[in-house]
Amino acid sequence: MTDGSTEFDSATTAPAIIPRHIAIVMDGNGRWARRRAQPRSFGHRAGQKAVRTTVEYCLRHGVGVLTLFAFSSENWKRPDAEVGALMELFLKALDKEIDELHKNEVRVRFLGQLSAFSEALRTRMHAAALRTAGNARLTLNVCVSYGGRWDIAQAARRAAEAAVAGELDAATIDEAVLAPFLCLADVPPPDLLIRTGGERRISNFLLWQLAYAELYFTDTLWPDMDAAQLDHALDDYARRERRFGCVPDPVTARAS
Ligand code: FPP
Repeated sequence: MTDGSTEFDSATTAPAIIPRHIAIVMDGNGRWARRRAQPRSFGHRAGQKAVRTTVEYCLRHGVGVLTLFAFSSENWKRPDAEVGALMELFLKALDKEIDELHKNEVRVRFLGQLSAFSEALRTRMHAAALRTAGNARLTLNVCVSYGGRWDIAQAARRAAEAAVAGELDAATIDEAVLAPFLCLADVPPPDLLIRTGGERRISNFLLWQLAYAELYFTDTLWPDMDAAQLDHALDDYARRERRFGCVPDPVTARAS
C-alpha cells in the first residue's frame, strides 16, 4: 500500500481500502430542521446523533483519525440564539458522550481559537482532552472556532516567536519547518474530506492539511448521514487513484 491507507477485510460490505484520517464538514443541520418546520437548534441536536454514528463507524472500520468541523471562526456571526444553542449542545454533548468515548478508547481533542469560548466550556474541553489523552484506538479532533487561515497564521506567528527566541533560523523556514506548528501536526493528514449538505467548497477548513486529500461531496444533509452513506463515501474513496503529484504507476497505467 503506497498511500499508507489500511486494508479492511472483515466485513463483506465494507470498502477494501480504509482512509487513515477522515475530515468532515458537517453541513445541512439548518435545512434538515427547516424541512421539519423546526428551529435550527433542532437540526444541530440531530447532527449530534450523526456524530455518534460516525464515531462508531470509524471505530468499527479501523479509521485512526476523525476530524470534525463543528464550529468555524465565521460561525460566531450567526444569531446569538443559535450560537448559544450550539454552545449549550457542545456542553451537554461533552457531559453525555465522554464516558462512552473513553470506554471506546477514543482520544478527544479540541482545535481552534479556544480562548473565544466561555470558561465553563473551556474547562470541560480541557478535562475531556486530559481524561482521554492516553487512548489510541481513534483520535477525534473537534474543530471549534477554527479556520484554516487562522491555523496558518498562528503557525507563522509561533514560528516567528521561535525565531525571535533564537530557537530556529528564520532563513530556514520552509514547509517542513512550518508544518509542526500547524494543528494536526501529530497525525497523518486527512486522506478523505467529506462535505455533506450539497455545497462543493472547503469553507476555510484545514487549508494546509487538505492539500492531497480526496474530496467527497454529498447532497445528504448531515443529520441524515448514516453507515450506508459513509459506506458510499468510502467506496468512492477506495476507487480513487492517489498520485500525490507523481505520474501513475507505469504497470497499472498500461493495464488500464
Ligand atoms: C452546519 O450546518 C453545522 C454546524 C455549524 C454545527 C455542527 C454541529 C453539530 C453537528 C452538533 C454536534 C457536534 C458535536 C461535535 C457534538 P448549518 O447550520 O450551516 O446547516 P445549513 O447549511 O442547512 O443552514
